[in-house]
Amino acid sequence: VSVSTARIRLLPQAVADAIAAGEVVERPASVVKELCENSLDAGATRIDVEIERGGLIRLCVTDDGCGIDASELRLAVSRHATSKIESDRDLERVRTLGFRGEALASIAAVSDLRLVSRPPGVDAAATIRVRSGEIAESGPAAAAPGTRVEVCELFASTPARLRFMREARTESSHAARLVGELALTHPRVAFSCTVDGRTAVRTAGLGRADALRSVFGAAASKSFIEVSAAGAVSVEGWISGPLAHRGTRSAMVLVVNGRRVHNRSLLFALDEAYHGLLPQGRHPFGVVLVELDPAEVDVNVHPTKREVRFRDEREVFAAVQRACWSALRANPVMVHAPPVKVPAAGGEAFVLGLADARDEDERERQRSASPEPSDLRGTAAGLRAIGQVRGEWIVAESADGLVLVDPHAAHEKVLYVRLLDEWSKGERSGTESQLLLLPSVVECDAAAMQRYETNAAFLESCGFGLEPFGPGLVRCTAVPLAAAAADPARIVLDALDSFDDDAPPAQRRHRLAALVACHSAVRFGDRLQIDNQQQLLDELAGTAGGSTCPHGRPTTLAIDDAYLRRAFHRSAR
Ligand SMILES: Nc1ncnc2c1ncn2[C@@H]1O[C@H](COP(=O)(O)OP(=O)(O)OP(=O)(O)O)[C@@H](O)[C@H]1O
Ligand SMILES: [Mg+2]
Repeated sequence: VSVSTARIRLLPQAVADAIAAGEVVERPASVVKELCENSLDAGATRIDVEIERGGLIRLCVTDDGCGIDASELRLAVSRHATSKIESDRDLERVRTLGFRGEALASIAAVSDLRLVSRPPGVDAAATIRVRSGEIAESGPAAAAPGTRVEVCELFASTPARLRFMREARTESSHAARLVGELALTHPRVAFSCTVDGRTAVRTAGLGRADALRSVFGAAASKSFIEVSAAGAVSVEGWISGPLAHRGTRSAMVLVVNGRRVHNRSLLFALDEAYHGLLPQGRHPFGVVLVELDPAEVDVNVHPTKREVRFRDEREVFAAVQRACWSALRANPVMVHAPPVKVPAAGGEAFVLGLADARDEDERERQRSASPEPSDLRGTAAGLRAIGQVRGEWIVAESADGLVLVDPHAAHEKVLYVRLLDEWSKGERSGTESQLLLLPSVVECDAAAMQRYETNAAFLESCGFGLEPFGPGLVRCTAVPLAAAAADPARIVLDALDSFDDDAPPAQRRHRLAALVACHSAVRFGDRLQIDNQQQLLDELAGTAGGSTCPHGRPTTLAIDDAYLRRAFHRSAR
């Protein structure tokens, strides 16, 4: 019998390092993240990032921070050497971004790394070069105060890792996005990021507004709504208004105690806050900063610190949801007319506002398909109904021009908000309902019958009067007051249809409110008396978030004076 003898060997240190590093240094963007975080911890006021060929050929981060003393360069690139914590007790109250003393060593293990550093006030700089974990050279150098870390040939010696890399373009864009997120998180630091020599991100370090504009673009950043809620868990942020949205969740940047983190549950809290404001499948974007006692957060749960764990996740979730929810409802926005195309004398189409088309803002706005939102406060209060176009749009006069209103969408929103409001108090005060003169008999199939049975109490708490009326039949004797004019049988059937047994009660309430509102609102095309038009406008003005219907469609379109003047070639007022 031949036994194959596999000798047990110690892996060379560089290999062991590379394996552990595989977790910390997943891709070029993670190197950029670690280096920028070191610069931030060093108190830098400017950080410049260069990326070449996806970062696999070369990437470089230069800062103007506190630098590293020449005598400590070796320690800086050694594993488990850090200046940031001293004991495991410090780990519980970490305020710096780094604390493992591992990043530089991990990066150096899988690349050719050169570090040049000079503390301010010291005459000369010093450098150290590490290749695949071995120190290749060190000595004096010439450089400005601060630190510069250059990483070449990343993963060249770890082909397995290299195989996982995507196209250079993908890697670069990951890295550039990461710099953008750091710039949002640290708005007082001037960031730049060049990709193959071209500037991808540049912020001036002038504060949040500047960072938001640089990262999300001028047009999008106008739609931001400010969030600010103090407390044991404080929440601040700038989040997109209901008229601007994205197809993914990845443009929502979450920051916990100054650290960019990924947290599914907080993203979900945000989606919840937008419930009823955005179309299906669309997501908000922006930046949300949560501050809480560091002892309540465990940052040491993920090798790249990408995730954090909260001692009381429910509390953080609730704080974020509450803060964003109220900011959104307190800041109704109104759609503004997009630039229109008007045929010019020569037969060519030109775009209004072309005069200032050189302005990047304007161009961006013209490119974007969705009209630009702005603040409704002050405008909506003074809306005066003038009439209705073909029984469809209501035309109203505002302090600043003209406003068109979709009566169905507007009424729907008014009812939706009113219902939710009532139901949220409902448990104690009971919801107002309308007894039906003629009870309506609803035919239910087996599934609907089943859902009726599980949801009977819930429906009752929302103002429905329902009772079993023989096999496959339910009798509806009352509906919520708002639905007095709607077809009760259809509402009940649709409601039973919409129930998803797994949905939490809040979500069922939202759905039911949207459904009742949709059934009960005036129809698009219904002719309204002028008083009713006016009444609707007044109610809309008093409705938080009144600019979109529960399905996220706009309810109003404002055409302001400046717009009209441009359209009719009249000089500005
Ligand atoms: N840009 C920089 N400016 C000044 N000091 C730096 C810089 N980069 C690294 N250092 C010093 O080198 C040490 C090691 O850095 P490294 O990133 O490896 O570990 P860390 O930041 O302490 O922890 P972590 O592994 O969690 O990032 C740091 O603790 C810091 O003292
Ligand atoms: Mg670090």
